[in-house]
Amino acid sequence: MEEDDDVDDGTVNDCTLQTEGAWNADGKGPSIWDDYTHNYPDQVKDGSNADDSVESYRLFDSDLKILKDLGVDHYRFSIAWPRIFPNGSVHLRNQKGIDYYNDVIDKLLANGIEPVVTMFHWELPVEIQKFGGFTNSLIIEQFLDYAEELFKLFGDRVKTWLTINEPKELCKALYGSGVSPPSINAPGVGDYLCLTNILKSHGATYRMYREKFYEKQRGRIGLPSNINFLYSKANNTDEVARAMDFEFGVVGHPVLSKSGDFPPHVLKEIEQKSLAEGRKRSRLPSLGKYWSSVIKGSSDFLALNYYTAWQIEPLTGQVDEDSMMIDERDTNFATSMFENCPRAESVWLHFVPQGLEDLLKYIRDTYDNVEVKILENGWSDTGGNDDYMRIEYHRNHLQAVVNAINDGCNVTSYAPWSLMDSFEFTSGYTQKFGFYAVNMTSPNKERTPKKSAEFYKKVIKSKSVPYKF
Ligand code: NOJ
Repeated sequence: MEEDDDVDDGTVNDCTLQTEGAWNADGKGPSIWDDYTHNYPDQVKDGSNADDSVESYRLFDSDLKILKDLGVDHYRFSIAWPRIFPNGSVHLRNQKGIDYYNDVIDKLLANGIEPVVTMFHWELPVEIQKFGGFTNSLIIEQFLDYAEELFKLFGDRVKTWLTINEPKELCKALYGSGVSPPSINAPGVGDYLCLTNILKSHGATYRMYREKFYEKQRGRIGLPSNINFLYSKANNTDEVARAMDFEFGVVGHPVLSKSGDFPPHVLKEIEQKSLAEGRKRSRLPSLGKYWSSVIKGSSDFLALNYYTAWQIEPLTGQVDEDSMMIDERDTNFATSMFENCPRAESVWLHFVPQGLEDLLKYIRDTYDNVEVKILENGWSDTGGNDDYMRIEYHRNHLQAVVNAINDGCNVTSYAPWSLMDSFEFTSGYTQKFGFYAVNMTSPNKERTPKKSAEFYKKVIKSKSVPYKF
Protein backbone atom coordinates (compact mmCIF):
# COMPACT_ATOMS: atom_id res chain seq x y z
CA MET A 1 0.00 0.00 0.00
CA GLU A 2 1.21 3.47 -0.84
CA GLU A 3 1.42 5.99 1.93
CA ASP A 4 -1.09 8.85 1.97
CA ASP A 5 -2.77 8.34 -1.37
CA ASP A 6 -5.42 10.83 -2.38
CA VAL A 7 -9.03 9.84 -2.03
CA ASP A 8 -12.20 11.87 -2.30
CA ASP A 9 -13.93 11.30 1.00
CA GLY A 10 -15.76 12.79 3.95
CA THR A 11 -19.03 10.92 4.26
CA VAL A 12 -20.59 8.54 6.71
CA ASN A 13 -24.05 7.02 7.00
CA ASP A 14 -26.95 5.50 8.93
CA CYS A 15 -30.46 4.11 8.39
CA THR A 16 -33.36 5.50 10.37
CA LEU A 17 -35.01 2.16 11.12
CA GLN A 18 -31.76 1.18 12.75
CA THR A 19 -31.15 4.43 14.64
CA GLU A 20 -34.25 6.61 15.13
CA GLY A 21 -36.23 4.64 17.70
CA ALA A 22 -39.47 6.48 18.63
CA TRP A 23 -41.31 3.73 16.79
CA ASN A 24 -44.76 5.08 17.63
CA ALA A 25 -43.98 8.64 18.76
CA ASP A 26 -45.72 11.76 17.46
CA GLY A 27 -48.08 9.97 15.09
CA LYS A 28 -45.67 7.57 13.38
CA GLY A 29 -47.36 4.51 11.89
CA PRO A 30 -46.00 0.97 12.26
CA SER A 31 -43.54 -0.55 9.81
CA ILE A 32 -43.33 -4.27 9.08
CA TRP A 33 -40.22 -4.36 11.30
CA ASP A 34 -42.11 -2.90 14.25
CA ASP A 35 -44.79 -5.58 13.91
CA TYR A 36 -42.33 -8.37 13.38
CA THR A 37 -40.05 -7.59 16.31
CA HIS A 38 -43.07 -7.20 18.60
CA ASN A 39 -44.79 -10.37 17.47
CA TYR A 40 -41.75 -12.59 16.95
CA PRO A 41 -39.00 -11.43 19.33
CA ASP A 42 -37.49 -14.90 19.13
CA GLN A 43 -36.64 -14.20 15.48
CA VAL A 44 -34.17 -11.50 16.56
CA LYS A 45 -30.91 -12.87 17.90
CA ASP A 46 -30.99 -11.03 21.23
CA GLY A 47 -34.78 -10.73 21.37
CA SER A 48 -34.49 -6.98 20.93
CA ASN A 49 -36.31 -4.48 18.72
CA ALA A 50 -35.81 -0.99 17.32
CA ASP A 51 -38.49 0.65 19.46
CA ASP A 52 -35.96 2.99 21.01
CA SER A 53 -32.73 1.95 19.32
CA VAL A 54 -30.11 4.69 19.73
CA GLU A 55 -32.85 7.34 19.78
CA SER A 56 -31.71 9.53 16.92
CA TYR A 57 -35.27 10.87 16.71
CA ARG A 58 -34.88 12.41 20.17
CA LEU A 59 -31.12 12.85 20.18
CA PHE A 60 -30.32 14.08 16.69
CA ASP A 61 -28.28 16.91 18.19
CA SER A 62 -25.91 14.30 19.66
CA ASP A 63 -25.58 12.77 16.21
CA LEU A 64 -24.84 16.15 14.74
CA LYS A 65 -22.15 16.66 17.34
CA ILE A 66 -20.34 13.47 16.37
CA LEU A 67 -20.75 14.20 12.67
CA LYS A 68 -19.00 17.49 13.27
CA ASP A 69 -16.44 15.81 15.45
CA LEU A 70 -15.64 13.43 12.59
CA GLY A 71 -15.48 16.32 10.15
CA VAL A 72 -17.69 14.80 7.44
CA ASP A 73 -19.21 16.90 4.69
CA HIS A 74 -22.00 14.44 3.73
CA TYR A 75 -24.37 12.37 5.83
CA ARG A 76 -26.53 9.61 4.41
CA PHE A 77 -29.67 8.83 6.33
CA SER A 78 -33.08 7.50 5.38
CA ILE A 79 -36.62 8.73 5.74
CA ALA A 80 -39.01 6.37 7.49
CA TRP A 81 -42.02 6.21 5.18
CA PRO A 82 -44.55 5.55 8.02
CA ARG A 83 -43.14 8.42 10.09
CA ILE A 84 -44.46 10.93 7.60
CA PHE A 85 -47.26 8.88 6.00
CA PRO A 86 -48.40 6.59 8.82
CA ASN A 87 -50.34 4.14 6.66
CA GLY A 88 -48.26 4.62 3.55
CA SER A 89 -50.79 6.60 1.57
CA VAL A 90 -49.91 10.26 1.00
CA HIS A 91 -53.40 11.51 1.72
CA LEU A 92 -52.71 11.13 5.45
CA ARG A 93 -49.63 13.02 6.49
CA ASN A 94 -47.96 13.35 9.84
CA GLN A 95 -46.70 16.89 10.19
CA LYS A 96 -44.53 16.10 13.22
CA GLY A 97 -42.59 13.54 11.21
CA ILE A 98 -42.14 16.04 8.40
CA ASP A 99 -40.94 18.64 10.92
CA TYR A 100 -38.37 16.18 12.22
CA TYR A 101 -36.78 15.60 8.82
CA ASN A 102 -36.89 19.31 8.01
CA ASP A 103 -35.03 19.94 11.22
CA VAL A 104 -32.43 17.24 10.45
CA ILE A 105 -31.86 18.57 6.93
CA ASP A 106 -31.67 22.21 8.05
CA LYS A 107 -29.27 21.47 10.88
CA LEU A 108 -27.01 19.42 8.63
CA LEU A 109 -26.89 22.18 6.04
CA ALA A 110 -26.32 24.87 8.66
CA ASN A 111 -23.28 22.88 9.74
CA GLY A 112 -21.90 22.43 6.25
CA ILE A 113 -22.97 18.78 5.94
CA GLU A 114 -24.81 17.75 2.79
CA PRO A 115 -27.80 15.45 3.35
CA VAL A 116 -27.79 12.32 1.19
CA VAL A 117 -31.23 10.81 1.55
CA THR A 118 -32.47 7.27 1.06
CA MET A 119 -36.21 7.26 0.45
CA PHE A 120 -36.71 3.68 1.50
CA HIS A 121 -34.41 1.67 3.75
CA TRP A 122 -36.77 -1.20 4.51
CA GLU A 123 -39.31 0.40 6.86
CA LEU A 124 -42.36 -0.60 4.79
CA PRO A 125 -45.67 0.69 6.22
CA VAL A 126 -47.71 -2.26 7.51
CA GLU A 127 -50.76 -1.14 5.52
CA ILE A 128 -48.83 -1.43 2.27
CA GLN A 129 -47.62 -4.93 3.08
CA LYS A 130 -51.25 -5.92 3.70
CA PHE A 131 -51.73 -5.60 -0.05
CA GLY A 132 -48.59 -7.60 -0.86
CA GLY A 133 -45.97 -4.87 -0.54
CA PHE A 134 -43.38 -5.12 -3.25
CA THR A 135 -44.96 -8.19 -4.79
CA ASN A 136 -48.03 -6.19 -5.86
CA SER A 137 -47.51 -3.84 -8.81
CA LEU A 138 -49.69 -1.33 -6.93
CA ILE A 139 -46.47 -0.44 -5.13
CA ILE A 140 -45.29 1.39 -8.24
CA GLU A 141 -47.84 4.16 -7.91
CA GLN A 142 -47.71 4.11 -4.12
CA PHE A 143 -43.95 4.61 -4.19
CA LEU A 144 -44.26 7.22 -6.91
CA ASP A 145 -46.74 9.22 -4.80
CA TYR A 146 -44.45 8.94 -1.79
CA ALA A 147 -41.38 10.00 -3.77
CA GLU A 148 -43.23 12.96 -5.28
CA GLU A 149 -44.11 14.20 -1.80
CA LEU A 150 -40.49 13.84 -0.70
CA PHE A 151 -39.32 15.94 -3.66
CA LYS A 152 -41.94 18.58 -2.83
CA LEU A 153 -41.13 18.60 0.87
CA PHE A 154 -37.35 18.35 0.88
CA GLY A 155 -36.10 18.61 -2.71
CA ASP A 156 -35.26 22.29 -2.39
CA ARG A 157 -32.43 21.22 -0.05
CA VAL A 158 -31.70 17.56 -0.82
CA LYS A 159 -29.63 17.16 -3.97
CA THR A 160 -28.66 13.50 -3.74
CA TRP A 161 -31.51 11.00 -3.54
CA LEU A 162 -31.35 7.22 -3.27
CA THR A 163 -34.59 5.42 -4.00
CA ILE A 164 -34.77 1.86 -2.62
CA ASN A 165 -31.93 0.35 -0.63
CA GLU A 166 -30.46 -2.95 -1.88
CA PRO A 167 -33.28 -4.31 -4.09
CA LYS A 168 -31.85 -7.78 -4.53
CA GLU A 169 -31.14 -8.37 -0.82
CA LEU A 170 -34.46 -6.83 0.18
CA CYS A 171 -36.46 -8.99 -2.23
CA LYS A 172 -34.68 -12.16 -1.29
CA ALA A 173 -35.08 -11.58 2.46
CA LEU A 174 -38.73 -10.49 2.34
CA TYR A 175 -40.25 -12.60 -0.41
CA GLY A 176 -37.65 -15.22 -1.42
CA SER A 177 -36.09 -16.92 1.59
CA GLY A 178 -38.44 -15.02 3.87
CA VAL A 179 -35.89 -14.49 6.64
CA SER A 180 -37.22 -10.97 7.20
CA PRO A 181 -40.76 -9.69 7.61
CA PRO A 182 -43.25 -10.38 6.06
CA SER A 183 -41.50 -13.79 5.92
CA ILE A 184 -42.82 -14.92 2.56
CA ASN A 185 -40.98 -18.05 1.46
CA ALA A 186 -41.36 -18.07 -2.33
CA PRO A 187 -37.86 -18.33 -3.77
CA GLY A 188 -37.57 -17.70 -7.49
CA VAL A 189 -41.08 -16.23 -7.60
CA GLY A 190 -41.76 -13.70 -4.82
CA ASP A 191 -38.26 -12.25 -5.00
CA TYR A 192 -38.48 -11.82 -8.79
CA LEU A 193 -41.88 -10.13 -8.60
CA CYS A 194 -40.45 -7.80 -5.99
CA LEU A 195 -37.34 -7.05 -8.03
CA THR A 196 -39.40 -6.25 -11.10
CA ASN A 197 -41.67 -3.92 -9.13
CA ILE A 198 -38.72 -2.19 -7.49
CA LEU A 199 -37.05 -1.55 -10.83
CA LYS A 200 -40.29 -0.11 -12.16
CA SER A 201 -40.84 2.03 -9.04
CA HIS A 202 -37.30 3.32 -9.26
CA GLY A 203 -37.45 4.01 -13.01
CA ALA A 204 -40.81 5.76 -12.77
CA THR A 205 -39.53 7.90 -9.88
CA TYR A 206 -36.48 8.94 -11.87
CA ARG A 207 -38.62 9.95 -14.88
CA MET A 208 -41.08 11.84 -12.69
CA TYR A 209 -38.25 13.77 -11.04
CA ARG A 210 -36.75 14.67 -14.39
CA GLU A 211 -40.10 15.84 -15.71
CA LYS A 212 -41.45 17.73 -12.74
CA PHE A 213 -38.61 18.72 -10.45
CA TYR A 214 -35.22 18.59 -12.08
CA GLU A 215 -35.33 21.99 -13.71
CA LYS A 216 -35.72 23.72 -10.36
CA GLN A 217 -34.07 21.29 -7.97
CA ARG A 218 -31.13 19.94 -10.01
CA GLY A 219 -30.68 16.84 -7.86
CA ARG A 220 -29.23 13.44 -8.72
CA ILE A 221 -30.75 10.02 -8.13
CA GLY A 222 -29.28 6.55 -7.58
CA LEU A 223 -30.40 3.02 -6.72
CA PRO A 224 -28.23 1.63 -3.88
CA SER A 225 -27.07 -1.89 -4.73
CA ASN A 226 -25.09 -4.31 -2.64
CA ILE A 227 -22.63 -6.20 -4.82
CA ASN A 228 -20.45 -9.07 -3.68
CA PHE A 229 -17.57 -9.69 -6.04
CA LEU A 230 -17.50 -13.33 -7.14
CA TYR A 231 -14.34 -15.30 -7.84
CA SER A 232 -14.46 -18.58 -9.72
CA LYS A 233 -12.79 -21.41 -7.81
CA ALA A 234 -11.71 -22.80 -11.16
CA ASN A 235 -10.43 -19.41 -12.30
CA ASN A 236 -12.93 -19.46 -15.12
CA THR A 237 -13.72 -15.95 -16.42
CA ASP A 238 -16.91 -17.07 -18.21
CA GLU A 239 -18.25 -18.37 -14.92
CA VAL A 240 -17.54 -15.03 -13.28
CA ALA A 241 -19.26 -13.09 -16.06
CA ARG A 242 -22.34 -15.33 -15.89
CA ALA A 243 -22.49 -15.29 -12.09
CA MET A 244 -22.02 -11.51 -11.88
CA ASP A 245 -25.02 -11.13 -14.18
CA PHE A 246 -27.11 -12.87 -11.56
CA GLU A 247 -25.40 -11.07 -8.69
CA PHE A 248 -25.62 -7.54 -10.08
CA GLY A 249 -26.76 -7.76 -13.71
CA VAL A 250 -30.37 -8.29 -12.67
CA VAL A 251 -30.29 -4.70 -11.37
CA GLY A 252 -27.37 -3.23 -13.31
CA HIS A 253 -28.35 -4.40 -16.79
CA PRO A 254 -31.86 -2.90 -16.76
CA VAL A 255 -30.58 0.40 -15.36
CA LEU A 256 -27.09 0.89 -16.74
CA SER A 257 -26.64 -1.13 -19.93
CA LYS A 258 -27.25 0.30 -23.40
CA SER A 259 -29.83 -2.37 -24.28
CA GLY A 260 -31.79 -2.36 -20.97
CA ASP A 261 -33.94 -5.18 -19.54
CA PHE A 262 -32.54 -8.16 -17.62
CA PRO A 263 -29.39 -9.78 -19.07
CA PRO A 264 -30.53 -11.84 -22.10
CA HIS A 265 -29.03 -15.12 -20.89
CA VAL A 266 -30.61 -14.69 -17.44
CA LEU A 267 -34.01 -14.23 -19.10
CA LYS A 268 -33.45 -17.24 -21.31
CA GLU A 269 -32.15 -19.54 -18.59
CA ILE A 270 -34.97 -18.72 -16.17
CA GLU A 271 -37.58 -19.08 -18.89
CA GLN A 272 -36.25 -22.50 -19.85
CA LYS A 273 -36.25 -23.61 -16.23
CA SER A 274 -39.76 -22.29 -15.69
CA LEU A 275 -41.12 -24.11 -18.73
CA ALA A 276 -39.33 -27.29 -17.70
CA GLU A 277 -41.09 -26.98 -14.34
CA GLY A 278 -44.37 -27.16 -16.25
CA ARG A 279 -45.19 -23.47 -15.87
CA LYS A 280 -46.87 -21.55 -18.65
CA ARG A 281 -44.46 -18.66 -18.51
CA SER A 282 -41.17 -17.51 -17.03
CA ARG A 283 -40.87 -16.70 -13.34
CA LEU A 284 -38.76 -13.71 -14.45
CA PRO A 285 -40.33 -12.29 -17.60
CA SER A 286 -38.73 -9.54 -19.67
CA LEU A 287 -39.50 -6.02 -18.47
CA GLY A 288 -40.97 -5.32 -21.91
CA LYS A 289 -40.35 -2.46 -24.26
CA TYR A 290 -42.12 0.28 -22.32
CA TRP A 291 -40.65 -0.47 -18.88
CA SER A 292 -37.21 -1.22 -20.27
CA SER A 293 -37.10 2.26 -21.75
CA VAL A 294 -38.34 3.85 -18.51
CA ILE A 295 -35.73 2.02 -16.43
CA LYS A 296 -32.78 2.25 -18.81
CA GLY A 297 -30.58 5.19 -17.85
CA SER A 298 -32.58 5.91 -14.68
CA SER A 299 -29.56 6.45 -12.49
CA ASP A 300 -27.15 9.35 -12.37
CA PHE A 301 -24.45 7.17 -10.79
CA LEU A 302 -23.99 3.66 -9.49
CA ALA A 303 -24.69 3.68 -5.77
CA LEU A 304 -22.58 0.81 -4.42
CA ASN A 305 -22.62 -1.03 -1.11
CA TYR A 306 -19.61 -3.33 -0.84
CA TYR A 307 -18.78 -5.54 2.11
CA THR A 308 -17.22 -8.76 0.91
CA ALA A 309 -16.41 -11.21 -1.88
CA TRP A 310 -17.40 -14.84 -2.42
CA GLN A 311 -16.17 -17.86 -4.31
CA ILE A 312 -18.37 -19.69 -6.79
CA GLU A 313 -18.37 -23.13 -8.34
CA PRO A 314 -20.99 -25.04 -10.34
CA LEU A 315 -23.75 -26.31 -8.06
CA THR A 316 -23.58 -30.05 -7.58
CA GLY A 317 -24.99 -30.61 -4.10
CA GLN A 318 -27.94 -29.12 -2.29
CA VAL A 319 -29.29 -25.61 -2.82
CA ASP A 320 -28.28 -23.22 -0.04
CA GLU A 321 -31.42 -21.24 0.77
CA ASP A 322 -29.38 -18.70 2.72
CA SER A 323 -26.94 -17.92 -0.06
CA MET A 324 -26.69 -14.18 -0.58
CA MET A 325 -27.05 -14.56 -4.34
CA ILE A 326 -30.45 -14.88 -5.93
CA ASP A 327 -31.95 -18.35 -6.07
CA GLU A 328 -29.27 -21.01 -6.55
CA ARG A 329 -31.80 -23.15 -8.41
CA ASP A 330 -31.54 -20.57 -11.18
CA THR A 331 -27.90 -19.53 -10.93
CA ASN A 332 -26.59 -23.10 -10.66
CA PHE A 333 -23.71 -21.80 -8.63
CA ALA A 334 -22.76 -22.72 -5.10
CA THR A 335 -21.18 -19.87 -3.17
CA SER A 336 -18.68 -20.09 -0.37
CA MET A 337 -16.66 -17.66 1.68
CA PHE A 338 -12.93 -17.14 1.78
CA GLU A 339 -12.36 -19.09 4.97
CA ASN A 340 -8.72 -18.03 5.14
CA CYS A 341 -9.67 -14.33 5.34
CA PRO A 342 -10.63 -12.91 8.76
CA ARG A 343 -14.35 -13.04 9.49
CA ALA A 344 -16.38 -10.27 11.08
CA GLU A 345 -19.08 -10.85 13.67
CA SER A 346 -21.54 -11.12 10.75
CA VAL A 347 -21.21 -14.62 9.31
CA TRP A 348 -21.49 -13.35 5.73
CA LEU A 349 -18.70 -10.81 6.07
CA HIS A 350 -15.09 -11.76 5.38
CA PHE A 351 -12.18 -9.37 4.92
CA VAL A 352 -11.57 -9.30 1.13
CA PRO A 353 -10.47 -5.77 0.10
CA GLN A 354 -9.13 -7.08 -3.20
CA GLY A 355 -12.75 -7.86 -4.04
CA LEU A 356 -13.59 -4.16 -3.97
CA GLU A 357 -10.75 -3.29 -6.33
CA ASP A 358 -11.73 -6.10 -8.71
CA LEU A 359 -15.40 -5.18 -8.49
CA LEU A 360 -14.67 -1.55 -9.38
CA LYS A 361 -12.68 -2.69 -12.40
CA TYR A 362 -15.50 -5.05 -13.37
CA ILE A 363 -17.97 -2.14 -13.21
CA ARG A 364 -15.58 0.05 -15.22
CA ASP A 365 -15.36 -2.59 -17.96
CA THR A 366 -18.97 -3.79 -17.96
CA TYR A 367 -20.90 -0.56 -17.45
CA ASP A 368 -19.01 1.97 -19.49
CA ASN A 369 -17.05 3.37 -16.58
CA VAL A 370 -20.16 4.76 -14.91
CA GLU A 371 -19.59 7.07 -11.93
CA VAL A 372 -19.55 5.03 -8.71
CA LYS A 373 -20.44 6.38 -5.30
CA ILE A 374 -19.54 3.90 -2.59
CA LEU A 375 -22.35 4.29 -0.07
CA GLU A 376 -21.61 1.50 2.34
CA ASN A 377 -18.54 -0.42 3.40
CA GLY A 378 -18.01 -1.65 6.93
CA TRP A 379 -16.95 -4.23 9.48
CA SER A 380 -18.90 -5.71 12.37
CA ASP A 381 -17.60 -6.83 15.74
CA THR A 382 -19.07 -7.45 19.18
CA GLY A 383 -18.13 -4.02 20.49
CA GLY A 384 -15.27 -2.38 22.32
CA ASN A 385 -13.47 0.84 21.62
CA ASP A 386 -10.12 -0.61 20.53
CA ASP A 387 -11.51 -1.64 17.18
CA TYR A 388 -8.26 -2.09 15.28
CA MET A 389 -9.77 -4.63 12.89
CA ARG A 390 -12.30 -2.02 11.77
CA ILE A 391 -9.42 0.37 11.11
CA GLU A 392 -7.62 -2.28 9.07
CA TYR A 393 -10.81 -2.97 7.15
CA HIS A 394 -11.34 0.67 6.18
CA ARG A 395 -7.68 1.35 5.54
CA ASN A 396 -7.42 -1.60 3.16
CA HIS A 397 -10.70 -0.89 1.41
CA LEU A 398 -9.81 2.76 0.96
CA GLN A 399 -6.52 1.64 -0.51
CA ALA A 400 -8.42 -0.68 -2.88
CA VAL A 401 -10.45 2.34 -4.00
CA VAL A 402 -7.31 4.38 -4.58
CA ASN A 403 -5.80 1.54 -6.62
CA ALA A 404 -8.96 1.31 -8.71
CA ILE A 405 -9.02 5.06 -9.28
CA ASN A 406 -5.40 4.93 -10.36
CA ASP A 407 -6.50 2.29 -12.83
CA GLY A 408 -9.10 4.55 -14.39
CA CYS A 409 -12.19 3.68 -12.32
CA ASN A 410 -14.63 6.53 -11.93
CA VAL A 411 -15.19 6.49 -8.16
CA THR A 412 -16.23 9.84 -6.72
CA SER A 413 -17.07 9.13 -3.10
CA TYR A 414 -16.70 6.66 -0.25
CA ALA A 415 -18.96 6.40 2.78
CA PRO A 416 -18.30 3.89 5.56
CA TRP A 417 -21.04 2.01 7.33
CA SER A 418 -21.70 3.32 9.89
CA LEU A 419 -21.60 6.36 12.10
CA MET A 420 -22.59 4.54 15.30
CA ASP A 421 -23.61 1.12 16.54
CA SER A 422 -27.30 0.46 16.00
CA PHE A 423 -30.03 -2.12 15.43
CA GLU A 424 -28.81 -4.71 12.91
CA PHE A 425 -32.18 -6.21 11.92
CA THR A 426 -32.48 -9.91 12.89
CA SER A 427 -29.09 -9.71 14.60
CA GLY A 428 -30.45 -7.09 17.00
CA TYR A 429 -27.64 -5.27 18.80
CA THR A 430 -25.18 -8.17 18.64
CA GLN A 431 -23.26 -6.86 15.61
CA LYS A 432 -21.65 -3.44 15.82
CA PHE A 433 -20.60 -1.53 12.73
CA GLY A 434 -20.14 1.97 14.19
CA PHE A 435 -17.27 4.40 14.61
CA TYR A 436 -19.03 5.48 17.82
CA ALA A 437 -20.29 3.24 20.60
CA VAL A 438 -23.61 4.08 22.23
CA ASN A 439 -24.25 3.69 25.93
CA MET A 440 -27.53 1.81 25.70
CA THR A 441 -28.21 1.82 29.44
CA SER A 442 -27.87 5.54 30.03
CA PRO A 443 -30.91 7.86 29.54
CA ASN A 444 -29.00 10.03 27.10
CA LYS A 445 -27.38 7.20 25.22
CA GLU A 446 -24.06 8.99 25.00
CA ARG A 447 -22.01 8.36 21.87
CA THR A 448 -18.31 7.62 22.47
CA PRO A 449 -15.66 7.59 19.73
CA LYS A 450 -13.87 4.33 19.14
CA LYS A 451 -10.31 4.17 17.85
CA SER A 452 -11.75 3.87 14.34
CA ALA A 453 -13.38 7.30 14.71
CA GLU A 454 -9.93 8.77 15.32
CA PHE A 455 -8.65 6.93 12.27
CA TYR A 456 -11.48 8.13 10.06
CA LYS A 457 -11.06 11.69 11.27
CA LYS A 458 -7.50 11.50 10.08
CA VAL A 459 -8.64 10.18 6.70
CA ILE A 460 -11.07 13.05 6.28
CA LYS A 461 -8.66 15.70 7.41
CA SER A 462 -5.75 14.54 5.31
CA LYS A 463 -7.87 13.38 2.34
CA SER A 464 -5.57 10.41 2.17
CA VAL A 465 -5.21 6.86 3.45
CA PRO A 466 -2.98 7.06 6.52
CA TYR A 467 -0.36 4.34 6.35
CA LYS A 468 0.32 4.37 10.06
CA PHE A 469 -2.11 4.96 12.85
C1 NOJ B 1 -26.64 -3.12 4.30
C2 NOJ B 1 -27.79 -2.35 4.84
O1 NOJ B 1 -28.09 -1.29 3.96
C3 NOJ B 1 -27.59 -1.84 6.25
O2 NOJ B 1 -28.82 -1.41 6.72
C4 NOJ B 1 -26.95 -2.90 7.12
O3 NOJ B 1 -26.80 -2.45 8.44
C5 NOJ B 1 -25.62 -3.25 6.53
N1 NOJ B 1 -25.82 -3.82 5.23
C6 NOJ B 1 -24.83 -4.25 7.38
O4 NOJ B 1 -25.51 -5.46 7.40
